[in-house]
Amino acid sequence: MLKPNVLRTPTFRLTLLFAAVFGLITLVLFGFLYRLTIGSISRETDEVITEQILGLKDVYTRLGAQGLIDVIDERTQDPTERDALYLLVDSRGTPLTGNLSKWPAERLYSARWLEFSIDATEYGKTISHRARARAVALNNGLHLLVGQDIDAQDDFRMRMTQALGWGLALMLGLGLIGGVAVSRNFLGGIERIVQVSRRISDGDLGRRVPVSGSGDALDRLASHLNDMLERLENLMRGMRAISDGLAHNLRSPVTHLRNQIEWALKSAGDTEDYRTSLEQALTEADRLNSLLDSLLDIARAESGAINLPFEDVDLATVLGEIIDLYEPLAETRGQRIVFHGDAAVNIRGNRQLLAHCFANLIDNAIKYSPPAATIDVRLGADGRPGVLISDSGPGIPAAERERALQRFTRLPGSESVPGSGLGLSLVAAVAKLHHARLELGDNAPGLRVSLTFQPR
Ligand SMILES: Nc1ncnc2c1ncn2[C@@H]1O[C@H](COP(=O)(O)OP(=O)(O)OP(=O)(O)O)[C@@H](O)[C@H]1O
Ligand SMILES: [Mg+2]
Repeated sequence: MLKPNVLRTPTFRLTLLFAAVFGLITLVLFGFLYRLTIGSISRETDEVITEQILGLKDVYTRLGAQGLIDVIDERTQDPTERDALYLLVDSRGTPLTGNLSKWPAERLYSARWLEFSIDATEYGKTISHRARARAVALNNGLHLLVGQDIDAQDDFRMRMTQALGWGLALMLGLGLIGGVAVSRNFLGGIERIVQVSRRISDGDLGRRVPVSGSGDALDRLASHLNDMLERLENLMRGMRAISDGLAHNLRSPVTHLRNQIEWALKSAGDTEDYRTSLEQALTEADRLNSLLDSLLDIARAESGAINLPFEDVDLATVLGEIIDLYEPLAETRGQRIVFHGDAAVNIRGNRQLLAHCFANLIDNAIKYSPPAATIDVRLGADGRPGVLISDSGPGIPAAERERALQRFTRLPGSESVPGSGLGLSLVAAVAKLHHARLELGDNAPGLRVSLTFQPR
């Protein structure tokens, strides 16, 4: 039993249309065939009859009634002309000769076509055949009828009509069966997709649409949907990691801030105590600020270049400014920042994000290198717009480098160093935004970070 929704599918309607169009084409084709075969056979029969009448009229004119009777007798005896029909009657309609027993119409008419039934013997049985004949009036009240048994033609016509009927029925039947099969198949595929999307919207993000491997349109749709779901799931996982990391990382500065304020309110004795508490609260507020700044920068860099202004940036100037900014911090640890490269190296980029990116790399180098270490900053060393920042700290093991670029990742051993694990993910996001290649390498000892930008 067909479900009503099967009948409503566009595929099924299309199949119906196809069946109808094919049916119509079959009909037109058979119509042509019919006219070409049956039509031409009938025309030929009429021509033969007309020619015979002309010939017999000629015989009558030349040899008279007896001559005509002789010729007709001869022809009716001829076994090769078994389908030919002749009848010669006098003015009262009495047969004079021929193989028909009586005039087939009520009255004697001249020059008209007649169709009538005759008795024929087939396999010993007498059956009725159809005949077509033409009557002509001769002198002296004689009437001549010349015709043909057209039963074979009728038979052929019937077979043709039957073949057409079967052909049409077959075409329509096959079209309909195909339509139902196709639309069921199609609906089945859609139904599977609907079920999976329902499960997904219920929260089961790991669900995937089954792919049959047939490579048809539905299968391709299913695998595209799966790709999309995969990406969505990854995004969701990323978002969850971010919110978890954010909550985790916000908690300690906020708790410290709260504790400072509480301590000051409860226990601070003099102005100096208040000052100390406020200074500590300020440090925590700054940590909070820089954490939020980094997150915002990452989000800006990752959201793409649509609303970020790109300009010509001289990397030498930006690096110089950042080094100036970080030099005091390095000095407090007895470290030195050495800058190699004084020529201007211009790229297209966002100056502010590039500055934050370099600041994070130099900040890491200072934080993770031992006191009195030298931090090396190189620009365009091999003629390309590249920045190389190397330190002599513990470095990052090759297996951990990928992970270190993820948000809120802090590697073991850095617990004593302040930070929230966002610096390198900002570097990665800025590199991606500028289509730059970011590589973390081994400085033996230490970390060597290389950023290669696109030439302008
Ligand atoms: N130059 C370096 N030498 C050794 N380890 C490093 C270096 N830079 C980063 N790392 C390791 O990679 C981790 C991630 O670095 P990232 O800059 O993203 O975060 P962070 O420095 O810990 O915090 P933040 O940059 O947010 O203040 C660090 O916790 C540290 O373990
Ligand atoms: Mg850092």
